[in-house]
Amino acid sequence: MSETLSTVSRPYPHHRVLFVDHASVLGGAELSLLDLAIAYRETSQVLLFDDGPFREKLEAVGVDVQILKAPSALLAIRASGGLSTLKVFPALWSMARQIKARSRDFDLIHANSQKAFVAAALARWMGAPPVVWHLRDIMTASHFSRLNRELAIALANSQASQVIVNSQATGEAFVAAGGKPDKVRVVYNGVSAQPFEQVTSEQIQQIRDELQLDEDTPLVGSFSRLSYWKGQHVLLEALRELPQVHAMIVGKALFGEDDYATQLRTSATSPDLSGRIHWLGFRNDIPTLMKACTIVAHTSTEPEPFGRVIVEGQLAQRPVIAMKAGGAKELIEDGVTGRLVPPNQAIALGQAINDIIESSDGGHILAQQGYHHAVEQFSLETLLTRFHHVLSEVVEPAMQT
Ligand code: UDP
Ligand code: GLC
Repeated sequence: MSETLSTVSRPYPHHRVLFVDHASVLGGAELSLLDLAIAYRETSQVLLFDDGPFREKLEAVGVDVQILKAPSALLAIRASGGLSTLKVFPALWSMARQIKARSRDFDLIHANSQKAFVAAALARWMGAPPVVWHLRDIMTASHFSRLNRELAIALANSQASQVIVNSQATGEAFVAAGGKPDKVRVVYNGVSAQPFEQVTSEQIQQIRDELQLDEDTPLVGSFSRLSYWKGQHVLLEALRELPQVHAMIVGKALFGEDDYATQLRTSATSPDLSGRIHWLGFRNDIPTLMKACTIVAHTSTEPEPFGRVIVEGQLAQRPVIAMKAGGAKELIEDGVTGRLVPPNQAIALGQAINDIIESSDGGHILAQQGYHHAVEQFSLETLLTRFHHVLSEVVEPAMQT
């Protein structure tokens, strides 16, 4: 993770990047941007539409962050990525003008979210430097309205120099929605193994003690924000049939899905679950918490674009169960580096949990194979090399014109 980026060698000159993100919460898109922003902090800046914990995290590691003046119409939108109404266009125009004004000394603009991209694309149209859209969402009707998709795709095709996608699945959905295939560059996220390797057995024991669980009690961990499509309810359903298994639910509602969080907590008070579901809220000690678990479960009901949590579970050397859809299929080979089960099927999930618990090695081989796969395929070095390569494709031709 971020603390270890200084150990990543960067044998290339830095581009001057203006990173733009609409959110200032700590979602996976922001935690992934943190890694990039740290690597480019000597030459670059981050612009956010809102103030919040992401700004604090960036500043704490010496990244130059500026908060734009976002009209309330834009901040009031509750969806994580999209734009819900036409009313926000004047607000986006205002953001575009601010981005344009601040982009003068940069080689390119990197837009880390859909809202940021729409504003950056308008800024490009006004004469700002080249724009790269880092698309981290699967552009389907489940997450984005038709207007949203059509607008973003039209702007991508006309204004974006490249569209970086976080998995093949994200790229395929972009093309299926009308995006130009020649703009797409796959750059998988990278996650450092180091914070996972620094976790001590005392820290793990402390978590187990706090939860009052002995070392033989199976504990399944969920580490996603609380949101219907992250599917924590599927895990709760699965555990109803596994009375010996406990669950650790880590994360909170980040994008206004508090009703879902309340429903989840209520459903966990039923007699068949009561006392077995441990609610930890948002935490910053994910490596320790994962290592305190027997299994890491990632239960999205919709195709997951990438799923940092899956790679983190592998780095924690725990068997990971994820859903057979989207980018997760690029992170796990079923039965080799983890388990994949059909989405939305609590029975299949319960069976996979039970299979691991009952197996002679308790999932040790799956966990080890997952760990080696994650270290080899999803390192920060690979991320930064690929990212630099994509930026070079954009910046160097632009410099020659
Ligand atoms: N995370 C965290 N604290 C929490 C819950 C989650 O730091 O309490 C982190 C988690 O470790 C992961 C990220 O949030 O790095 C979630 O990213 P992912 O790509 O899995 O999903 P997203 O929320 O972006 O869709
Ligand atoms: C988005 C996606 C998630 C991905 C993250 C980082 O938040 O939902 O799957 O891991 O971006 O790219």
